[in-house]
Amino acid sequence: MTAAQIRPATGAAFSRIHGVGGYRPVRVIPNSEVLGWIDSSDEWIRTRSGITERRWAGPDESVTEMSVQAAGKAIAQAGIDPGQIGGIIVATVSHFKQTPAVATEIALKLGCPTAPAFDISAACAGFGYGLNLADGMIRGGSAEYVLVIGVERLSDLTDIHDRSTAFIFGDGAGAVVVGPSDTPGIGKVIWGSDATQKDVITQTEAWDTALGKPDAINGAGEQAPHWPALRMDGQPVFRWAVWEMAKVAQQALDAAGVTADQLGAFIPHQANMRITDAMIKALKLPESVPVARDIAETGNTSAASIPLAMERMLQTGEAKSGDLALIIGFGAGLVYAAAVVTLP
Ligand SMILES: CC(C)(COP(=O)(O)OP(=O)(O)OC[C@H]1O[C@@H](n2cnc3c(N)ncnc32)[C@H](O)[C@@H]1OP(=O)(O)O)[C@@H](O)C(=O)NCCC(=O)NCCS
Repeated sequence: MTAAQIRPATGAAFSRIHGVGGYRPVRVIPNSEVLGWIDSSDEWIRTRSGITERRWAGPDESVTEMSVQAAGKAIAQAGIDPGQIGGIIVATVSHFKQTPAVATEIALKLGCPTAPAFDISAACAGFGYGLNLADGMIRGGSAEYVLVIGVERLSDLTDIHDRSTAFIFGDGAGAVVVGPSDTPGIGKVIWGSDATQKDVITQTEAWDTALGKPDAINGAGEQAPHWPALRMDGQPVFRWAVWEMAKVAQQALDAAGVTADQLGAFIPHQANMRITDAMIKALKLPESVPVARDIAETGNTSAASIPLAMERMLQTGEAKSGDLALIIGFGAGLVYAAAVVTLP
């Protein structure tokens, strides 16, 4: 008897982003409102972070609702039917119901309730991680179109009296539809982590000890339940982002065989405008390359920041469909992901 051979899955030769969409919450929080919470100044916040205002979600702007809005736009731009979606990947660190995955709730609302649907937790690199998975799924033959959503309600995890984080974070959702392509539209994703720095951005404590687990003792040795928040040791994050992430961005360019002067856009994670400026210098990015500066009005929305910034650059005409864009996400973990992509 000859041994049976497994027929391998075969997929598209290449993949690309077919559509992008974003959702920005209605409520605008200007720096002046932040000054009611922390001892700071509008000038300090602008010069240290580049942020002038951010959006915070209201009760009706849930992780699910914001995602559905953003995904609906991405699907419309891609020109596909929701039934063609063969995978939904949701990157988030601020959805508070662990089971079921929020991706399944979104699948149901979008009208593709049979698609494989799952969440990933990779903080500000979550969008790039999701993009890498989607590219692999499409080229590996396990899906034709994959929806990648980055969504956060970081206001729920912000301690408004913490001077190092109260002014930084925002809420929102960004989504892309990734699908088959005749030409390469997503370069090799350079991803990784520096787990030795896992504690520089972290939730103050785990849900079980913070809230209500019977007989739980919280981090302060008390029994009183309380809500966790994000804590960040800003300087090591800043140094790592500036020195190490510029190298990662260069690796993504090299892997794609693209030089900086061939880029139509640079879309880094909207962490901090000073980090963006330092990366531009380290990469020797020509002045002619448009740079995403969505952080000024949106704040740092973690997994949502790259697709939100991408949508804005295409809407304002700063970047054009078909242009090559260098994207790079980095954050808590510490984790990162960078790639050159063709804009939808
Ligand atoms: C958060 C960040 C802006 C703080 O800037 P910093 O220069 O490191 O701030 P420091 O904590 O060293 O404090 C410097 C001074 O500013 C003051 N300061 C700190 N927070 C302040 C605030 N919110 N408003 C006004 N002053 C503040 C400090 O008291 C200190 O004053 P002093 O020099 O008189 O002692 C900076 O570390 C940073 O951008 N880090 C990266 C953060 C980031 O991008 N995270 C997202 C990654 S996903």
